Amino acid sequence: MIKTAFYDAKAYDKPSFENYGHLHNVQFRFLETKLNEDTVELARGCDAVCVFVNDTVNERVIDRLYELGVKLIALRSAGYNNVDVRAAFGKIHVVHVPSYSPYAVAEHAIALLLTSVRRIHKAYNRTREFNFSLSGLTGFDLHGKTVGVIGTGRIGRIFMDICRGFGMNIIAYDQFPAKDSGIAYVSLEELFRRSDIISLHCPLTEETRHTINADAIGKMKKGVIIINTSRGGLIDTEALLEGIKARKVGAACLDVYEEEADIFFEDRSGHILNDELLSRLISMPNVIVTSHQAFLTEEALNNIAETTVNNILSFFENDGICDNELCYRCGHIESCKKERREKCF
Ligand code: NAI
Repeated sequence: MIKTAFYDAKAYDKPSFENYGHLHNVQFRFLETKLNEDTVELARGCDAVCVFVNDTVNERVIDRLYELGVKLIALRSAGYNNVDVRAAFGKIHVVHVPSYSPYAVAEHAIALLLTSVRRIHKAYNRTREFNFSLSGLTGFDLHGKTVGVIGTGRIGRIFMDICRGFGMNIIAYDQFPAKDSGIAYVSLEELFRRSDIISLHCPLTEETRHTINADAIGKMKKGVIIINTSRGGLIDTEALLEGIKARKVGAACLDVYEEEADIFFEDRSGHILNDELLSRLISMPNVIVTSHQAFLTEEALNNIAETTVNNILSFFENDGICDNELCYRCGHIESCKKERREKCF
């Protein structure tokens, strides 16, 4: 039996993880708390920890996990910006779920876009109160508009395919442009200048942090719509708020938020929100916030559980070799051992 401490467990996680866990002798200890320096002790006696996007897996947490004998950090997400992979290197192996349903995230980005552009959120509230007025609900056609996509990986490409179906013009920026893809790559500057809509689909790294800042917003078209289903830190929230107040940014569709860690995924209704920036954002008529739910489809949840259990099994029963292992050298072809199907260390 492989014992795994499952941090930040939610009701929607348990059925799929219990199902795949039982089938393969992986025993999950479901913990409602997030992993951090105060809760790391709860992993005592476990072989692995399973973590999500808002668990804090910094150097101190990693060192303590290592002392406790934990061998594996199994992320049940694609993004891994919350794990100090450099600190983990040489101590604890890290695996993730590189892809569970890129469709779920891309489709959610489109759902936010359509909701915003056609004012569905307002219309829904109005008709529930038998208010059938159309005043203030004028939208615009997506057809013929230019969408700028930052990050043309799995999710970005599906998002582009859907946009193509709407008859939109698509331009993109990626630090590592895909060769022979037919994607119309432009510089970030040009993307800011030309796009009516900008959608973020790149990972959060030191390089990409605050890709959307005051300077970037200054270069954008008046009325630009910004969609972020990737990671909150890609946007400087204060600069976004200023852009909205100055009427430069026409709308923002946010599934992620810089300071979401202690807020998202929890029911805070009935409490005073101690986050001035988020409160102000939510109060804006042209901002839609969802609480990191882009991944939340049945298909994705099943894929996450299946891949996570397979990652754990591969690691403990296949000599530690797991295709989904990652480390700080990932993406650097010359030093990446994954290319050679070896352990990262
Ligand atoms: P991917 O790895 O397939 O694609 C990421 C793309 O970003 C790659 O093409 C890469 O070259 C590009 N990139 C890397 N550094 C860049 C930079 N500095 N500037 C521009 N582009 C850069 O990843 P995938 O599966 O498409 O996921 C994208 C992101 O979506 C993840 O990193 C994660 O943060 C987020 N995500 C959000 C979810 C949600 O529920 N809201 C769920 C799943 C992922």
